[in-house]
Amino acid sequence: GGEAHIEDFDFSFEGPFGAFDTNQLQRGLQIYTEVCSACHGMKFVPIRTLADDGGPQLPEDQVRAYAANFDIFDAELDDIRPGTPVDHFPGSALETAPDLSLMAKKRAGFHGPYGLGINQFFKGMGGPEYIASLLTGYEEAPACAPEDFPGHYNTAFASGGFPESCKDEEGHATVGGSWISMAPPLYGDDVTYNDGHESDLHHEAEDVAAFLMWTAEPKLMARKQAGFAGVLFLTLLSVLLYLTNKRLWAPVK
Ligand code: HEM
Repeated sequence: GGEAHIEDFDFSFEGPFGAFDTNQLQRGLQIYTEVCSACHGMKFVPIRTLADDGGPQLPEDQVRAYAANFDIFDAELDDIRPGTPVDHFPGSALETAPDLSLMAKKRAGFHGPYGLGINQFFKGMGGPEYIASLLTGYEEAPACAPEDFPGHYNTAFASGGFPESCKDEEGHATVGGSWISMAPPLYGDDVTYNDGHESDLHHEAEDVAAFLMWTAEPKLMARKQAGFAGVLFLTLLSVLLYLTNKRLWAPVK
C-alpha cells in the first residue's frame, strides 16, 4: 500500500511521568466489549486484571459480574460454564479478525530512524496511535480504484490490498493507505459511556486504543516508576563516586 497517515494522539500514558487514565481505560473496555469483541478476542488477557492497580480498576464484584457474561468451555467439566475472574477473555469470534491482546505492541505508528527521522525516540513506537488512526482513517475510496475493489479504503492501513489502477508507472502507490477487510467498526456515538464522557468518533477511537495499550503493556506504570528510581539512584551514585574519586587521589595529585 501507499504511505500511511498516522495521527500523533496525545495519550495520558506518554512521557516519563505519564500514567494510564483509569476512566479512559474503563471507557475503552466498554467499547471493546460492546463493539470489538463481536469479532476480535483477547485470549492473553486474564479477566481478573481488570481490577489491577494501574488498570481499569473495576471493583471485584463488577469483575466477577463481567466474567460471568462469558460462556467458557471447561475441559475438566467437559461442559460450558459461566466465566470467572481467573479465566482469560475469549479468543476471536471471527477467524480472520486478529487477537487484540498485544496489538498495540505489534504495530508501530511511527517508524525510523531512517532519513533524518528519529521519530520513535521522540514520539514512541506509536502502537496506540496506529490503532486510533486506523479506526478514524476510513475514507471514501479514491477515484483511481474500481468500484468493486474488495475491502474498505483506510488511510492508516499500509499492509492491505491495492488496485493496480492506483499505481504509477514504477508500481508505486498514488494514494496513501490501502484496503482493509474490517468494515468501519466505529462511527461516533456507538456506545453511551457510563461516565457521560463525549463519544464522538475521535474520543471513542482514542479510548479503545488506550485500553488496548493497557492490555498489551499492563505494567507500563510500574516500569516507569522503577526506571525513574533507577535513574535517580544512578545519578546519586555517580555524584558519590566522583567525590570519592577526588578524595582518594587528592594526596597523589
Ligand atoms: C483487523 C481493531 C472491530 C474485524 C483489526 C486490526 C485492528 C482492529 C487493530 C488490525 C489491523 C492491522 O492488521 O494492522 C478493532 C477495534 C475494533 C474492531 C479496536 C472495535 C472498535 C471489529 C469488528 C469486526 C472486525 C466489529 C467484524 C465485524 C476485523 C478483521 C480484521 C480486523 C476481519 C482483519 C483485517 C485485514 O487484515 O484486512 N481490527 N477492530 N473488527 N478486524 Fe477489527
